[in-house]
This record gives sequence, structure tokens and C-alpha cells, in this order.
Amino acid sequence: MITRRNLVLGAATSLALLPTAKLSAAKNNNGSFSLVAGPADIPLYKPDGEKSELWTYNGSLPGPEIRVRKGERVKVNFTNRLEEPTSVHWHGIRIDNAMDGVSGLTQDPVQPGDSFEYDFVAPDAGTYWYHAHNKSWNQVGRGLYGPLIIEDDVPTFDSDHDITLVLDDWRLVGNGVLHVESFGSLMDWSHAGRLGNWITVNGTSLPRFTLNRGEAYRLRLINTANARIFELDPNRFSARLLAYDGQALEEPETLPYAPLLVGPSQRVDLLVTPTEEFSLEELSGDQPLAIASFSVRGETGNTGPPPRLTPNRLPEPDLTSAKRVRVAMEGGAMGGAVEISYLGKKLQGEDFRKTRQVWAFNGVANLPETPLLEATSGETVIIETVNKTRWMHAMHVHGHHFRIINRSGSQVDEGNPWRDTFVIGPEQTTEIAFVADNPGKWLYHCHMLEHAAAGMSTWFNVS
Ligand code: C2O
Ligand code: CU
Repeated sequence: MITRRNLVLGAATSLALLPTAKLSAAKNNNGSFSLVAGPADIPLYKPDGEKSELWTYNGSLPGPEIRVRKGERVKVNFTNRLEEPTSVHWHGIRIDNAMDGVSGLTQDPVQPGDSFEYDFVAPDAGTYWYHAHNKSWNQVGRGLYGPLIIEDDVPTFDSDHDITLVLDDWRLVGNGVLHVESFGSLMDWSHAGRLGNWITVNGTSLPRFTLNRGEAYRLRLINTANARIFELDPNRFSARLLAYDGQALEEPETLPYAPLLVGPSQRVDLLVTPTEEFSLEELSGDQPLAIASFSVRGETGNTGPPPRLTPNRLPEPDLTSAKRVRVAMEGGAMGGAVEISYLGKKLQGEDFRKTRQVWAFNGVANLPETPLLEATSGETVIIETVNKTRWMHAMHVHGHHFRIINRSGSQVDEGNPWRDTFVIGPEQTTEIAFVADNPGKWLYHCHMLEHAAAGMSTWFNVS
């Protein structure tokens, strides 16, 4: 049996075989991108090991990096070569609603063999990602995701100093192959979501990167895991925070606490100026687990002042005239008895197992017929989210970035930068505020993908 411990040993002994994980790009000659979703057999445990049955974009894990300039029009010809319907969501982008890629809400899913053209403008610079948005617990969990990087008009870091790190967490069994049978396990759905025992960065276990001593690098971390909250400590390698969820800070900040929680779908950009080799470590286990290593070469050259990013201009919420709504998160294992209705019917007894709906927002599992909230464009919205469950969650708003204006009742505190996803602890209440300025139907859901599927999804309408 594979345990975290022997997997860790496995990683250490196969280290010498590992190449630097380089991400491929996807641009066509005419400036558009092509993405093809389909099955791909890829080794996860070691490069020459047994292959896992993954689903990916363009056959690579992660999918190709889509990199464009701020304000650029992005056209993506998408083709579905899976055996089930799918769609592509552009996570964290203030996008035209029709291009948001949510199957069943903003578009019909793309059927097997069919194509769809995504066409949108990327308004804000930063680190984003794209992923499947139909049965995401299975499709994202199998590898359907990739980075979406939007560069500033004048990029602050050149491509040699700009490194994307796509983090994922897999459940391997046997000879180190993906445990496909346990996708959809009710145990995962009602507890912490699908957690794995093997971590990859850019599709590889413990990739190694070589950096120039004394030069400034931007590390763009993207958590694509279904449910794992990565715990990191940038202070261990004197890194500072440049951005959260794509949105640059006014200036690089030193994290005043540890660990830094990076919940499912969240991103953090780090500024590191290495003087000696270091590892990026995941700290949630008994012992720190190195997940990427960085060696350093050369002598310290001329180091100028630390580079600064230019923050995007997002509309500041106006709290004096805000529309308020409350979301009570309920259900899940150890949550006690709760009343949940689903598709207009109260669930009881066997229903929970049959419908697999075990969580609810305000007593309703999954998208209710009427939206959580109706806003008129330009209105400030405050969502007060009360976590009455025994579990952590990672709540994501589609199409908008928000600020956290209040937190109480738990130790999770991420400050209040712009974000598109926040981590909420058990017994915690978090209030977020944003200007609902983009017409359409937008999701508000837990990005622990099993939780979303098992009830933790709702939507709001902006007209
Ligand atoms: Cu990453 Cu519904 O989103
Ligand atoms: Cu959740």
C-alpha cells in the first residue's frame, strides 16, 4: 500500500531522473489557441513508472499555458474528445458571462466530438487558470486544467524569471497509479473532499528548477487540487507576496504569520531572490514535505530594487449602499441533522445516499431555481457566509473579485487583499463585498469540488 511516507521516499530516490518541468504553450499561427480535452495516459509516480488514466488538455499535464497580454482578445477553439460532455471555465477572469464556461448555467455543455469557440477579453493582469466545469470533481480531478497567465502591458519579469507552478494532489494506489474507482466516493463528498497522497508540481513529483543567485523571480503558484488546502511558508526561503488570486499588491509584502493557506483554486505569486538552494515545502503533514526544489547557480550579480507589479483597477465596493445576503453553510459529516431540500423536495433517509446531496446553502442543495441574490449592475453586494459545518471550505465567486470586510469565530485570517476565493474555517463567519458590475448568471460555490457537487453551489444574477 502506498502511504504518504513511502511516497515521499519514492520521490527522494527518483530525484535524479527528474527533468525540470517546463510548461508548453498553445498559440496557433493566427493568434488563437487550440484546446482539445481527451484521455491521456501519463505517469504520476515517477517518469518511467506506470501510467495513470488521465483526462487532459492537448495531452499534457497540466494543460498548455495560455499566456496573453492584458486587454488582449483571447480566442480558444475548444474540442471535446472525451466520452462525456464538458465545458471550459476561465477561473478568476472578469469575463463576458456567455464565456464563463459553466455547463448548465452559462452554456450548454460541449458534447463529445463537438467544438466551441471561447472568445473573450482578458481585462486584468495576473495569474489565473482554466479548468473543466462539468462534473468538475471528476474532470478536474483527472487533470483537465491549465494555467492562464495575463501579462501586464510591460511585463515586470522576463520569461526566465517568471515561473508557473501548478500544484495538484493525487490519490495513488498499487504501483503508483491514480485510483479512479474512488472518484465519487460518498465518504469524500461528505467529509473533506477527495484528498490524495501524492503531490505534483507541473505534473511532476518534486521538479527541480535552477535559478540565478541574487536575481528576482516571480513564482506563480496555482492550487488545482480538488480539495487539498496547501500549507506553505514563504518566509522559509525569504519570499514575499506579490499577488493573491491574480491581483497584485501595491508592493511586495512579507507574510506576518505562517502557514500561508492556499485553498483549492487559489493562487499566490511569490517574489524570491535566492541566495542559496531551497525547497517549496508543504507543511500540513507531520513533517515538511518538499514539493519543488530550487538550486542556485553563479555569483550574486547586480541586484536592483525589487520589481513591483502594477495592481489592476477593480471597482471598490461602497458599503454604505450595499445589498446584503446571508449564506448559511450546513450539512456534511458530523454536522448533525439538517433539513436539505433538493430540486424542490425535502430529502430524507435514503434520499441522501441516492441524490448524493449532503450539504446545503440556506437549506437548499445545489442550484436553486431562484438566485441567491438579484443585483443591478453597479450595485455593491455583501455576502455574509456562515460556516455551520465541521469542515473547512474554499468559497469562490465567479466573475468578480471581492474584499473580505469581516471575519469572526475562527483562526483563518488571510488579511483583505482582493480575492476570488476565500478559505473559511469551521464555525467561522466571513463577509465579503464586491461591486456586481457584470451582467449575467454567476456561481457562488465551494471549490472543494466534491462539496460543490454534493450541494454547496448557488448562483446570483446581475442585471
Ligand atoms: Cu474554478 Cu466554478 O470554478
Ligand atoms: Cu467545501
